[in-house]
Amino acid sequence: MTIAHAPWLWPVMRPALRRFFDRASAGWDERTRAGSVDHLAAFAAACTRIEPAPERVLDLGTGTGESALFLAREFPRASVRGVDISEEMIRAAQAKVGLDPDGRIAFRVADAIGLPYGDESFDLVAQLNMPPFFDEIARVLRPGGHVIVAASWGEATPFYTPPAVLERGLRRRGFESATVGETDTGTWFVARKRIRG
Ligand SMILES: C[S@@+](CC[C@H](N)C(=O)[O-])C[C@H]1O[C@@H](n2cnc3c(N)ncnc32)[C@H](O)[C@@H]1O
Repeated sequence: MTIAHAPWLWPVMRPALRRFFDRASAGWDERTRAGSVDHLAAFAAACTRIEPAPERVLDLGTGTGESALFLAREFPRASVRGVDISEEMIRAAQAKVGLDPDGRIAFRVADAIGLPYGDESFDLVAQLNMPPFFDEIARVLRPGGHVIVAASWGEATPFYTPPAVLERGLRRRGFESATVGETDTGTWFVARKRIRG
């Protein structure tokens, strides 16, 4: 995938991509079946591999927030943050949680190439149908934390990144125990950031 192979292209592509997803946000859930069983199956399968249950979870490229809401249901004790480069997507996601009195789920506009979070802030970073930004995934994950990269429609998914590319990119940044899997429609990849020592 272009961004995984050539992240320096990202600043050139970013404005057009943001506009594209801003426009695409209206009616996104109906058109893409976001939140349906098929949309979430591969993501859900990957979540079953995450142990221990995470406390701080980040959903990258959250879109209208269905994957972040799934993570919040799957890990009921975790705080979940969802980020997206598109303001309109984040507006749609935010509308689904309202004010969330516990503050357990929150959405914000952010670019995955430069996240507004400190080093080692999360113990799970997940992304569904989104290109990988390896350096930032590695930076914001705690040692021992996991990354999930899932594609709802496998190789047919826009932004699909082959497991070999994911494995190579993450191994170079200190990840291990890569595991891959498939569901009826989708594919998933999980790896763990090595514990120092
Ligand atoms: C194909 S959509 C997937 C949305 C959602 N995860 C889903 O499966 O319905 C990709 C999303 O990633 C977002 N995105 C793309 N590049 C991004 C980046 N660098 N940082 C944050 N979000 C990004 C887009 O705005 C879009 O909402």
